[in-house]
Amino acid sequence: MRNLLITGGAGFIGSNFVHYMSKARPSWRLVVLDKLTYAGNLENLKALEGGKNYRFVKGDINDPTLLDELFTGEKIDTVVNFAAESHVDRSILGPKTFIETNINGTFTLLEAARKHWLNGADAGGKRFLHVSTDEVYGSLGETGLFTETTPYSPNSPYAASKAASDHLVRAYHHTYGLPAVTTNCSNNYGPFQFPEKLIPLMIINALKGKALPVYGDGKNVRDWLYVEDHCRAIDLVLDKGRPGETYNVGGRNEWKNIDIVRLVCEIIDEKVASDGALREAYPFKGKRSELISFVKDRPGHDRRYAIDCTKIERELDWKQLDMFPSGIRKTIDWYIKNRAWWEGIMSGEYLKYYGLQYDERIAGGKK
Ligand code: NAD
Ligand code: TYD
Repeated sequence: MRNLLITGGAGFIGSNFVHYMSKARPSWRLVVLDKLTYAGNLENLKALEGGKNYRFVKGDINDPTLLDELFTGEKIDTVVNFAAESHVDRSILGPKTFIETNINGTFTLLEAARKHWLNGADAGGKRFLHVSTDEVYGSLGETGLFTETTPYSPNSPYAASKAASDHLVRAYHHTYGLPAVTTNCSNNYGPFQFPEKLIPLMIINALKGKALPVYGDGKNVRDWLYVEDHCRAIDLVLDKGRPGETYNVGGRNEWKNIDIVRLVCEIIDEKVASDGALREAYPFKGKRSELISFVKDRPGHDRRYAIDCTKIERELDWKQLDMFPSGIRKTIDWYIKNRAWWEGIMSGEYLKYYGLQYDERIAGGKK
């Protein structure tokens, strides 16, 4: 039994994790703290509302008074920190909130844990798990993999802000003995992913017959992991991970962006061809791969990410269960079934993207 504070639990991975833990650890108290930025969505957690071990709190990880109230009132003994600004393109257009949340926010959260856990009491059973990314390691060439000892070399403001937060977590363990662990995971995909990220954006645009904007030559490589596999890894690290350690989590599933976009097009073409109701809902008639439009590259675009996840496999017995194409098929089915979810996002103000409306952005080349 633990009292778990899940920050950023209304976002993509956070909400999948809350759902996962409500099944995997039904006796744990799950307290979700989320600021509900453009990326946070209470719809993602609707199925849990009213649950006796679940509480949602709207608030900022940068608010020490609120954190004091939660640590004391809820007797928080475990933290999983998902709260972050998470989109590289937004970090290029406006890095400030990335500094405020990812760096200062993580610092405020660490201070709360230090104050409440390291005040003479035995902190042995406590855990602070910081969720980070492989982007802190920079970019790979054609070969090689990121391991836990690869030097940090972040390239985007997003990656730099996550790298800074990882260093703070490490320092709190080393200096104060905070029982902290960090996970560095590759690109996730699956249900509830905000439709500005590659995979949901391509699924939705392909369904609707809109342009599919591929940055640069489309040959940048990412290592994709189904979100539930990431959630299981985090649960394992909470349970068996050693304080002070970092664990890489990845899919051994490298894809060039252009190949993913083509795969999404093929699967959707196939589904629409065999389903009259889908054809009526999405009347686009051509081959969806013809919607691909190569647009201006992202500045500083990292070429390749790939994770060596041997450590978590060997030490904690983690295994991924869903690779492409099974994970991508499940994801496409989820977006087909949950049209109201993404239409809700797109009809609101959420995707006002630094002055551009969603439809202008996806028309391509206007960034
Ligand atoms: P997301 O953008 O979907 O969700 C982030 C959540 O944090 C949102 O609900 C938002 O409202 C909340 N939030 C933002 N600022 C906050 C603040 N100051 N206080 C409280 N809540 C705040 O992001 P995601 O894709 O679910 O990523 C979650 C975490 O996992 C991030 O830390 C990210 O760096 C990390 N990560 C993501 C990926 C990926 O592929 N998406 C891969 C590896 C690691
Ligand atoms: P993204 O989902 O933003 O994740 P990250 O930048 O954190 O890896 O992008 C994944 C890859 O897809 C990245 O190489 C950029 C590329 N991309 C496009 O080509 N077109 C798009 O519209 C988006 C959002 C991303």
